[in-house]
Amino acid sequence: MKIAVLASGRGSNFEAIARAVKSGKIDGEIAVLIVDRKNIGAIERAERLGINWIYVDPHSHPSREDYDRKIVSILKYLQVDLVCLAGYMKIISEVFVDSFPNRIMNIHPALLPSFPGLKSHEKALQYGVKISGATVHFVDKGVDTGPIIVQVAVPVLPDDTPETLASRILQFEHRIYPQAVKWFVDGRIEIKGRNVTVRDADYSSLPVVPALEDF
Ligand code: GRF
Repeated sequence: MKIAVLASGRGSNFEAIARAVKSGKIDGEIAVLIVDRKNIGAIERAERLGINWIYVDPHSHPSREDYDRKIVSILKYLQVDLVCLAGYMKIISEVFVDSFPNRIMNIHPALLPSFPGLKSHEKALQYGVKISGATVHFVDKGVDTGPIIVQVAVPVLPDDTPETLASRILQFEHRIYPQAVKWFVDGRIEIKGRNVTVRDADYSSLPVVPALEDF
């Protein structure tokens, strides 16, 4: 199975997925990393890991749809089966979603449907929730609204700043995202409307539901 990752920044989730593929835990191949910004951590990581990366320049495409059509053409050319958004800062257009139905995943650092969009840690702290977390979901036409695959619950401490909360959650992101990709690659994900089930997974205990198996 061929996997593409799209990133706009640091790239730590990209690296977590790439390492899981390299180690053989995920039975697939990273076909490409696509970025919409230059000089970002994700590119350095790709170089270090020996993974091909492509910069697609947003400024040379007149509209979001044109930009996404370009990306889709690259992904189709490379025969990509699964697209993973990992800190990708663009909202993807219908053109893109329709080209890969239920084949685009995203990770969001909150317990969706709470705190979608940007600055989720700030929003969680401001609201005063005692549990936050992260969500891996399929991408639909909304922002962070697609069918949920896996979530992790993480405590919010009284002295947390957005940074301390982010780093506590990020450690789990690096486990749940590769796990979700592995479930997909292993053909264990069933989707009925909004409801995603991982076949034979354990849904009975926190903090990660369904429970981690390999990460
Ligand atoms: C992660 O917190 C992810 O959940 C969010 O953006 C951040 C990206 O971090 N969508 P990285 O680039 O993977 O290190």
